[in-house]
Amino acid sequence: MIELKNISKIYPGSPPVEALKEVSLHIEKGEIYGVVGVSGAGKSSLIRSVNLLEEPTTGEVMVDGVLLSSLSSEELRKARRKIGMIFQQFNLLESKTVFHNVALPLYLVGKKRKEVEEKVMQLLTFVGLADRAEHYPGQLSGGQKQRVGIARALATDPHILLCDEATSALDPDTTKSVLDLLRKVNKDYGITILLITHEMDVVRNLCDRVAVIDQGRIVEQGTVYEVFTNPKSETAQRFVRTIFGQELPESVHQSLEKQDQILRIVFTGENAKRPLIAEVIRKFQTDINILQGSITELQGKPFGDLLISIQGDRKVTENIIQYLQEHQVLVKEVASIGV
Ligand SMILES: Nc1ncnc2c1ncn2[C@@H]1O[C@H](COP(=O)(O)OP(=O)(O)O)[C@@H](O)[C@H]1O
Ligand SMILES: [Mg+2]
Repeated sequence: MIELKNISKIYPGSPPVEALKEVSLHIEKGEIYGVVGVSGAGKSSLIRSVNLLEEPTTGEVMVDGVLLSSLSSEELRKARRKIGMIFQQFNLLESKTVFHNVALPLYLVGKKRKEVEEKVMQLLTFVGLADRAEHYPGQLSGGQKQRVGIARALATDPHILLCDEATSALDPDTTKSVLDLLRKVNKDYGITILLITHEMDVVRNLCDRVAVIDQGRIVEQGTVYEVFTNPKSETAQRFVRTIFGQELPESVHQSLEKQDQILRIVFTGENAKRPLIAEVIRKFQTDINILQGSITELQGKPFGDLLISIQGDRKVTENIIQYLQEHQVLVKEVASIGV
């Protein structure tokens, strides 16, 4: 559906900026795919290369099996109508009403007035703003502006919606309602969504799969469940910690003894419901101190995350690790406290 092959992007200048390095991504039809990274990681360069708003220096962009760089400018214009886009700052025309903002792409493709009116009202109803058609953007809240942005992006019946930090200017409650709307766009219209964000919570709430980008490179990708439960790269681990904060409170930190062995344990699937820690305490006759823990749900599956300390014999700890691993529980010895 969307296929990026070895995309590099170098912005000329002195020195030149290498914003994307050999990026390859494959996004299936109908999925919601997130790319997460810090500011400056290359996210906008990446998403803008999907509709060639930013032309990659090297590499290939295929959309619906078509190599975009092989198209004439007229063909590219047509292809772009099938790729909608929304932005962090909404990019609405302030001097036009909500109605006209949404109508504009339709007039541009030569639709007749009656057809435009019907379509615009249908879209505004879909995003919950039918009663605001005659308002101006300046009279709307941020969340409402983004709804208008979404209605406008859907006007030309796209197959794909690109979202460039679409909720980054919104407060948490409004973010949630816009994410709900994007989920509806995906479900009701079968539109493939590619979104970029610096907020791991957006990925957790909305996406099926995620890629982590760092300094222009994709350092990790997988299902949201895989990446959240077992992040492999340092960057992904840092992002996951922003959600399941593994930082220990200072008082707990200070009360730990040097000989304490700290383990991070991740329970997934059925294991999240099993009293494994109680079993371990009984079986190994040892004291376990739970430092921090949470159980949550990801993509409809339970997921538990626990930080424990064990005092005493190193050998016993090793046996405990082995026992837990035999029960398909992910165990990592945390080298230094606070990791
Ligand atoms: N038009 C441009 N000219 C020169 N450098 C740019 C341009 N756009 C982005 N960059 C640089 O490329 C890098 C990646 O930027 P960007 O793709 O906007 O990242 P993000 O969206 O993750 O913040 C940054 O170092 C940025 O300064
Ligand atoms: Mg950006």
